[in-house]
Amino acid sequence: DPQKMEKIVSLCKSKGFIYQSAELYGGLNGCWDYGPLGVELKRNLKDYWWRKNVQERDDILGMDGSILTHQAVLTASGHVGGFSDPMCDCLLSKARLRADQIDAQTGTAYHYTGASHEESEWSIERPFSVLIDPTANQNENNARKVAKQYYAQFLNDKQIAPKKLALAGESTTEETDTIQYNPENGSLLTEAREFNLMFQTKMGASSDDNDPNAVAYLRPETAQTIFVQYKNVLDSSRVKIPFGIAQIGKAFRNEINPRNFTFRSREFEQMEIEYFCRPEDGLRLTEEWLEKRLSFYEEIGVPRTKLHVLDVPDAERAHYSEKTYDIEYEFPFGIQELEGVAYRGAYDLGKHQEHSGKTIEYFDEETKERFIPHVVEPSAGCDRSVLAVLCEAYDVEDLTKEGGKKDERTVMRFKPCMAPIKAAILPLLKNKPELVAKAKEVQHLLQPFMNIFYDETAAIGRRYRRQDEVGTPFCIAIDFETLGEETQDGQDLTDTVTVRHRDSMEQERIAISDLLPWLLQRIR
Ligand code: GAP
Repeated sequence: DPQKMEKIVSLCKSKGFIYQSAELYGGLNGCWDYGPLGVELKRNLKDYWWRKNVQERDDILGMDGSILTHQAVLTASGHVGGFSDPMCDCLLSKARLRADQIDAQTGTAYHYTGASHEESEWSIERPFSVLIDPTANQNENNARKVAKQYYAQFLNDKQIAPKKLALAGESTTEETDTIQYNPENGSLLTEAREFNLMFQTKMGASSDDNDPNAVAYLRPETAQTIFVQYKNVLDSSRVKIPFGIAQIGKAFRNEINPRNFTFRSREFEQMEIEYFCRPEDGLRLTEEWLEKRLSFYEEIGVPRTKLHVLDVPDAERAHYSEKTYDIEYEFPFGIQELEGVAYRGAYDLGKHQEHSGKTIEYFDEETKERFIPHVVEPSAGCDRSVLAVLCEAYDVEDLTKEGGKKDERTVMRFKPCMAPIKAAILPLLKNKPELVAKAKEVQHLLQPFMNIFYDETAAIGRRYRRQDEVGTPFCIAIDFETLGEETQDGQDLTDTVTVRHRDSMEQERIAISDLLPWLLQRIR
């Protein structure tokens, strides 16, 4: 379904999962707000990650670092100097674009627009640019040819009526789009240049704009706060290597082109573990973590068949990493990264030791050795995982009976542990006080343990469908049998309820006294 992403985005808004930030004022680009259901889903995901990685493990401790980060930390880590993306100006749209890929063979750099809800808005602006990497391509004719090909393909894909394409210097009387060619360095359009992705801010009331002590950054990854507190965690908790520090928290990157819904945002949450080990164990632990992380996604409802493992080639890995795996997922807009599992060696701790001048070595009591631990880092994006869970859950089921009228139901097939609402309590009728009272009783029984939704409006069938749309795995109906006013095939069903299963739509009868343990077992 080519419209799948648009449908998900629209459902997210209409049902209260995710809204554009400051939509009222035209939207804040690259920022998103989670609504009443989105916040539950995201919390379920974070809680599950925390439970699996911190609570259920003896060797991993948690922390929650500050978002505002000391300049020295990010200078030492290399972010101040080099945390950037290649950027260029598109001469067609006048927009600043991220050079997503530079083709080593042709020397062509190009920018993807994605195929999501942003497309219509974008296509008016003609965002496409063809960039020739000046260092890789000095051949003018080839550059022109490649540029024209990509331009034509872009217009064709977007079904935009082409204007004649002129290259700068060509004279024509028609209205044209223009591509500049710079014979000095072989580039079309502007040259790609590095754009630092960090948000800088000023701290305190210093009136001197150039006071270096007043500069702070919003952290671009949660990882650095872990590295700079590694020694304190070690000293205060007396753990032994190997051990990990886990953190869930916000990170900020001034992405040149945020896109694909929440996939690439400027404000997002990461779930990171820095797992410290002896140097000789690093590569083995990287493999182990990769497997653990793949299983995690299965547990939250993203099947292994939709995940791809990219063994990141030498040229694309950060220089300090000996091995990096990207875990990718088949999003509706393409196969894209969910998480990186990187072996970062002793790079970060080494840099912080060097820059701070303080020793952060580990002393092994048994072997009497001193060394800087190596680190394996499974780094997941919380918002991206939420998005993958949403995409995977989304389903439209055709329930049309033969010869009957068309009947489709939208159903979010969340794993019960992820579902924002665990159970809906539905009295059969709202104008029968006994039914309502009993339903409220069941609601109050369950509410301290899980997120419950009470609904007495509309016909029961419609209420079921509404819960399907938001992925509630169980609907609990309170009916006349519950009150003991009716029987089923002569059977007394007093104080039992009907539980309807979202996926199969099958129903079963459960005693109210069994309901809580029955549900708890299924939603964990
Ligand atoms: N500490 C390592 C690190 O930050 P990364 O690959 O840059 O590595 C890790 O980021 C994860 O954070 C990514 O796999 C992705 O899930 C998430 N992430 C990164 N940039 C993001 C963005 N702009 N929007 C949403 N999630 C992002």
